[in-house]
Amino acid sequence: MIKQMRVAVIGQGYVGLAITEGALTAGHHVIGIDISASVISGLKSGKSHIEGIPDSVIGQGINSGALQVSDSYAQVSDVDVVVIAVPTPLNTAGSPDLSPLVSAVKSLAEFLKTPKLIINESTSYPGTLREVIKPLIDKCSNQAHLYAISPERVDPGNRDYGVRNTPRVVGGLSDQARDAAIAFYKGFCDEVIPVSSAEVAESAKLFENTFRFVNIGLVNEFAEIMSAMGIPVGEVLRAAGTKPYGFMPFHPNVGVGGHCIPVDPIYLQERAKEFGLTSKYVSLSTEINHRMPRYVVQRLIDEYGDLEGKRVLVVGVSFKADISDTRESPAEPFIENLKARGAEVLWHDPLVSSWKGESSSPVSGGYDLAVVLVAHSNLSMNGWRGGPIFTTNFNPKYPDWIPLISVQQNK
Ligand SMILES: NC(=O)c1ccc[n+]([C@@H]2O[C@H](COP(=O)([O-])OP(=O)(O)OC[C@H]3O[C@@H](n4cnc5c(N)ncnc54)[C@H](O)[C@@H]3O)[C@@H](O)[C@H]2O)c1
Repeated sequence: MIKQMRVAVIGQGYVGLAITEGALTAGHHVIGIDISASVISGLKSGKSHIEGIPDSVIGQGINSGALQVSDSYAQVSDVDVVVIAVPTPLNTAGSPDLSPLVSAVKSLAEFLKTPKLIINESTSYPGTLREVIKPLIDKCSNQAHLYAISPERVDPGNRDYGVRNTPRVVGGLSDQARDAAIAFYKGFCDEVIPVSSAEVAESAKLFENTFRFVNIGLVNEFAEIMSAMGIPVGEVLRAAGTKPYGFMPFHPNVGVGGHCIPVDPIYLQERAKEFGLTSKYVSLSTEINHRMPRYVVQRLIDEYGDLEGKRVLVVGVSFKADISDTRESPAEPFIENLKARGAEVLWHDPLVSSWKGESSSPVSGGYDLAVVLVAHSNLSMNGWRGGPIFTTNFNPKYPDWIPLISVQQNK
């Protein structure tokens, strides 16, 4: 039997709202805090802004009083548990930017008048809980708080794995803190894995995403090599994937997007520099993954011809299928590269109504060609009256689209 608790979740985005849902299902009372007025007003009206979290969860929570949402931290003073899930992006110089996390912790600290369990779910480098979060709180609050970390692994849009069935790693600044966090997560997670320190948990998260980033870099480079040799990389990867052990498939694409995969390895890299080290794998993968938009535009020119003056519709600007998240989307450098080659570019995305100050254009006539970067399940090209449709990888649902990376015979 899980003890009912009052839980404050700071940040109501992809991660925070998933934790809000989990804590509600465990029977806790949740206070969702966010600095975004539109997020708060949407949640107050019972609407979820995150794919995979139904309106009904939010609506029932609000109506029953189990969920309160606010842009004020004041109610933190009454809670037992605080979960922090705010962005940890890169700044304009491409370095880790902890300012949203620091700001959230400072806002939180002044309301911590009694001891709490404070859990960080925001991804950051090892040492963040011990050297950044705790000292900031200690400045304002002289209570004996318990500090734990459980780096989030949520994969937005993934229908097979969610908060409940994705194993969760938990570390703490003390055994007592770790065990308290384990008890909290056991209320809505099937498997909780204790580790010996906060730094182990923080590092595990960075390694998971760096592993992905590096392997995507490897397969992107391999795709370039295969293409130059005239060998269909898609078929090669399918053949390699028949090995039942010791191989994990990764897929070449126009780049790496999202809030995590292209960002988290930089957190590792920058922290390593403080120890006089550098990750050559991160540096090399960054270089390869960043050059993919230019490479795919060149492949398009090889297949189609000169783009000067051509009207191009880029389809799918979120960073992956079936989610509307455009953070770090490779569509942005891809479009810049198309424009640099003289193309006039508009974009369409059934899940993104506006992006970078522009609205999604309808699928219609008047274009010379289209390039589909992301094919959402609800994508319809029925209105298309333009020229050829290219895509990055072969898509069995659309056999007529011309693949730019997985060269011919890739069916
Ligand atoms: N999105 C993912 O798939 C994913 C997966 C695993 C881990 N993470 C990590 O989780 C963390 C949160 O990411 P996310 O995707 O949920 O971000 P998000 O942008 O979807 O949500 C963050 C929310 O925090 C709010 N916020 C920002 N500053 C705040 C503050 N000072 N006080 C209160 N609210 C504040 C924002 O308004 C936003 O609604 C990041 O560290 C990220 O790397 C994300």
